[in-house]
Amino acid sequence: MRSNSRVGVVIVSLLLAWVLLVITGEIFFFPVRKIGSFVRNDYLSVDMPIHSDVFRVPPGYNAPQQVHITQGDHVGRGVIVSWITPDEPGSSTVFYWPENGDFKWQAHGFVLTYKYFTYTSGYIHHCPIHNLEFDTKYYYEVGIGNTTRQFWFETPPPVGPDVPYTFGVIGDLGQTYNSNTTLTHYEKNPVKGQTVLYVGDLSYADDYPFHDNTKWDTWGRFTERIAAYQPWIWTAGNHEIDFAPQLGETIPFKPYTSRYHVPYRASNSTSPLWYSIKRASAHIIVMSSYSAFGKYTPQYKWLRKELPMVNRTETPWLIILMHSPIYNSYVNHYMEGETVRVVYEKWFVEYKVDVVFAGHVHAYERFERVSNIADNTLNGLHRPINDQSAPVYITIGDGGNVEGLATAMIDLQPSYSAYREASFGHGILDIKNRTHAHFSWNRNQDGYAVMADSIWLHNRYFRQPGQA
Ligand SMILES: [Fe+2]
Repeated sequence: MRSNSRVGVVIVSLLLAWVLLVITGEIFFFPVRKIGSFVRNDYLSVDMPIHSDVFRVPPGYNAPQQVHITQGDHVGRGVIVSWITPDEPGSSTVFYWPENGDFKWQAHGFVLTYKYFTYTSGYIHHCPIHNLEFDTKYYYEVGIGNTTRQFWFETPPPVGPDVPYTFGVIGDLGQTYNSNTTLTHYEKNPVKGQTVLYVGDLSYADDYPFHDNTKWDTWGRFTERIAAYQPWIWTAGNHEIDFAPQLGETIPFKPYTSRYHVPYRASNSTSPLWYSIKRASAHIIVMSSYSAFGKYTPQYKWLRKELPMVNRTETPWLIILMHSPIYNSYVNHYMEGETVRVVYEKWFVEYKVDVVFAGHVHAYERFERVSNIADNTLNGLHRPINDQSAPVYITIGDGGNVEGLATAMIDLQPSYSAYREASFGHGILDIKNRTHAHFSWNRNQDGYAVMADSIWLHNRYFRQPGQA
């Protein structure tokens, strides 16, 4: 009898433990967080061969190539057109005209070259165009003589709180077969992106011997099919640093800043590596994970001024781009963003940032709204907690570069990691109005219309009480 009652106690105890585990959601039968179901082999991603059509040099003597545009002012009435002529400087003038206009306007840019170890760049042209009409399709032409090339872009609607606008989100793209699929899926996504938010790591030239800068040229030609037609908002990643004293190259970011100009002065920044723009209903802040960011540094001082100036009744959506994520539950780059988090997270919460996009980790991850700002080193409060004033952090460094996917995850998925999956893909941030935006993640192994993960974002500034 006694032995039977002991067995009974053990069974009851086990049942109680089971119930407790179920209630706390700590067992896999009742998951509270998601890991993508796709099981992928851990293979490297392969660069497309040099003779691929995506790298084709446009025909004609000194034909402009690697054409790309970005926003050229603070509000979207400006565009910077950039391109490279390979043989001689040619002209830095852009001719442009509105879709229904007869008159061709001209804007005059400038040309530069740079050297990197034994490489000398082509003639890199940058031409800012100002005072465009909002919400207008423009055609533009670069080059001279018989080798001109024509493209087009659309300016955004005037800045305003309820202006719908759709951003693509791409990071760590590189130039592999997977990179090409990512761009094709972005082009074909039925939700049409109008501007790309690019979260850093462009060509991966520094993965090649002597930082082979011809890889910057092939990347420029590869991305032209989208970057010539809609602005890409650039963020610098670690593969843009190109600091190589062993090659005599000691100026960080030289190839990147020579090739990709941004309108940093329009937001009173002193560096192209951190700046802001307003576009439609969004205020977008670009930060540099690889520039000094501690207290009193130029980046810190700029952001301290910038955040209070964001007018959420004009641009309700406050979005931050940075390369290295400050929340990450992959083994790759685990904790690398921690120092940035310690300095800046409290501001992200104080100013109710809606979403922070990062790259660097070659995978996808979305977090719950959490913060970890209570810790003062003595109080033991160093765990992320639910915080409805905190941004949603999204890692989308899965553009498809040559380094392959980051498949190793921290064993137990943290409760604040809402979804993680090591697959290549791109994101779409579809802003509907001042209160609602829809974010979706498209992974390359699905059809381009399939959303593998998606979430409705409720604006943090115009959030209704009780709304998550
Ligand atoms: Fe990176």
